[in-house]
Amino acid sequence: MEIPKTSNLPAYITFEPLEKIISLLQNRQIAILVDENTKRECYPIFNKILEQNNNLKPFLVIEISSGETNKTWQTCTYIWQQLTQNNFDRKAILINLGGGVIGDMGGFCAATYKRGIDFIQIPTTLLSQVDASVGGKLGIDFNGFKNHIGLFKTPSKVWIQTLFLQTLPQKEIRSGFAEVIKHTLIADKKEWKKNLEIKKENFQTQKWITTVAHSVALKAKITENDPTEKGVRKILNFGHTIGHAIESYFIEQNKKDNTKPLFLHGEAIALGMIAESYFSAFLYKDEHPNQKSISSTDFQEIKTYISIIFDDTIKIFREAIQKQNIAQEITEWAKQDKKNKQNKILTCVLEEIGKATFDVPITQTQILESLRKI
Ligand SMILES: NC(=O)c1ccc[n+]([C@@H]2O[C@H](COP(=O)([O-])OP(=O)(O)OC[C@H]3O[C@@H](n4cnc5c(N)ncnc54)[C@H](O)[C@@H]3O)[C@@H](O)[C@H]2O)c1
Repeated sequence: MEIPKTSNLPAYITFEPLEKIISLLQNRQIAILVDENTKRECYPIFNKILEQNNNLKPFLVIEISSGETNKTWQTCTYIWQQLTQNNFDRKAILINLGGGVIGDMGGFCAATYKRGIDFIQIPTTLLSQVDASVGGKLGIDFNGFKNHIGLFKTPSKVWIQTLFLQTLPQKEIRSGFAEVIKHTLIADKKEWKKNLEIKKENFQTQKWITTVAHSVALKAKITENDPTEKGVRKILNFGHTIGHAIESYFIEQNKKDNTKPLFLHGEAIALGMIAESYFSAFLYKDEHPNQKSISSTDFQEIKTYISIIFDDTIKIFREAIQKQNIAQEITEWAKQDKKNKQNKILTCVLEEIGKATFDVPITQTQILESLRKI
């Protein structure tokens, strides 16, 4: 595999072959956290490499059920139980082999088990490679609120291999692509223009390595400047004030109906990015005529591209919000956003394509109008 230039990446992120990080695993207890999909598709690849190093201790595989609905306290209890029953000590290491759910929750469990053991992220979805595994945010959902309980801790290593994407369903690739789009919209206009050439039909055959490396570098640069999200890191929440509200609303709905969530994380964020671009180009602009924000032409370009990539997501969403009160209820979820201060809902504004600002108040009425422009 081609290894991208990593000089602009922090040392904890690597695209190198696993053999290079094997030294981290020697002389310690090793647990590997997987879900049923990563156990089937990714674990055999990883295990083959581990088996070639016969000086490693036998490892414990902890399997949990896949999906956001399992990113809970109850699953953490199971993980901590497994580590405890197998007498894992403070020198032990947990390897999180999976998407953002495994990475966020496994990282959280490792960072809290016996006041913290080391952990390695091996992200196996596009979303977790470009986003969730970078920047040290760990956590779980609580009472329906996304990532409500958690902490910041940098992993010992993030080992990124785009090889794992070969078995990832197209819908999941697209979900991750939403975060690739986000990174360029907030931080890199040139790369946004390149993104526009990426077609959904080519997702499965796309050579992802360069796109992933570029996207990781953008996120890493932002998070390194503000590791605990006191300021500039908040621009990474572009699309997320409204996107998270949509995601949370439908997760709760689906729990009640006992069905699968209507939208994947990235799909909800794609919807949120259209809505927040509309807010930037029109509603924010009306209130702040002297501040910079994207033009209506920029908004059209963003909406058109996202609408091509996420065509069915948008269709389903539009149909859903025709129903009574759903849009209004989504605005209620935005009131719970972690970024809010003094009862004000805060969001991001695109000043131009490739540049964003944060902590901008948005009202429920403005969210409602923006939702209707998706
Ligand atoms: N910590 C952060 O900074 C951060 C940033 C963005 C998102 N997140 C979190 O990430 C989560 C979403 O991550 P995700 O989209 O990776 O979801 P996910 O972890 O649920 O993975 C998606 C699906 O793909 C399957 N899968 C994973 N790798 C596979 C592979 N190689 N082949 C086949 N199937 C595979 C999984 O089993 C799962 O069914 C959310 O919980 C979100 O809150 C965290």
